[in-house]
Amino acid sequence: MTEKTFPTTVTLNDGNEIPQLGFGVYKLKDDECVTAVRHAIEVGYRHIDTAAIYGNEEQVGNAIRDAIAAGDVTREELFVTTKLWNDRQGAEESTRAFQESLSRLGLDYVDCYLIHWPCPRKGLAVETFSAMAKLQGFGSIRSIGVSNFYAETLDEVISGTGITPVLNQIELHPGFSQAELREVNRERGIATEAWSPIGRGRGLDDPVIRRIAEEHDRTPAQVMLRWHLQLGNIIIPKSAHPKRISENFDIFDFHLGDRDMECITSLDDSTIAGRIGPNPLTFPEE
Ligand SMILES: NC(=O)c1ccc[n+]([C@@H]2O[C@H](COP(=O)([O-])OP(=O)(O)OC[C@H]3O[C@@H](n4cnc5c(N)ncnc54)[C@H](OP(=O)(O)O)[C@@H]3O)[C@@H](O)[C@H]2O)c1
Repeated sequence: MTEKTFPTTVTLNDGNEIPQLGFGVYKLKDDECVTAVRHAIEVGYRHIDTAAIYGNEEQVGNAIRDAIAAGDVTREELFVTTKLWNDRQGAEESTRAFQESLSRLGLDYVDCYLIHWPCPRKGLAVETFSAMAKLQGFGSIRSIGVSNFYAETLDEVISGTGITPVLNQIELHPGFSQAELREVNRERGIATEAWSPIGRGRGLDDPVIRRIAEEHDRTPAQVMLRWHLQLGNIIIPKSAHPKRISENFDIFDFHLGDRDMECITSLDDSTIAGRIGPNPLTFPEE
């Protein structure tokens, strides 16, 4: 068996450590999901990102149990995140939704539980986050955080509960580098986690990315992911393909210079600029 390397970790504001590189499972279904997560663990990923809305918590749990049974990993070595969907916000409803997620995953605890979207029009983020803090107190959740939050909603939760989320998982990729929101997170002691870190493939053919990839003898996806690591972002690239899952993990032995970093960040002004997903200020539309 080949020696496995582990990604660097980020220390969260509650003292827990999260592997900076994780595996995202959005859109992975059924056996394809089990096989992909199993392969990711085999390659060395120790952080898995799912959500109730992805409909694959059960398959993620199966893959984890399988990997543990095979002796590839222990539960303690893994960092498992899941998320509360929008229609389950509120104190009692979110507690029920969490228990359902835990049961689908077949785990005793999750490492991180996130409010998936702030849903500002509902006005339920504070009571939801308080309920998550209670579950954390019972030991069912190690760390609590949020996703798709912006300054106002972060401050509402922090002032309303007295607790600062450990991380904010936001859309972030070359072409949408979110300098302002990364700074908002940093000022509050919140780690930034990037979803769609390779922009769902948008930008893989961009000439700037391709040139840098050629110069480093790497693939465009590896260059994008390396850019994130050097910015300090936690990342969770998704792939259904074993070769790509391995490729996306193989980013710890090269370095981008300042000029490369600036060129990638300046893609915010290029043809690949902009959001892919919904705007958290207005999502979900009602
Ligand atoms: N919090 C949120 O609201 C939110 C929203 C979206 C996503 N997420 C999380 O973030 C994770 C990642 O985001 P994402 O899945 O939207 O996008 P992504 O990871 O940026 O990109 C995934 C896409 O890129 C392709 N791909 C992956 N590796 C590649 C490589 N090395 N070369 C070429 N193509 C490659 C994949 O295709 P194949 O699968 O065919 O390889 C897939 O189409 C999700 O899985 C989910 O866990 C969270």
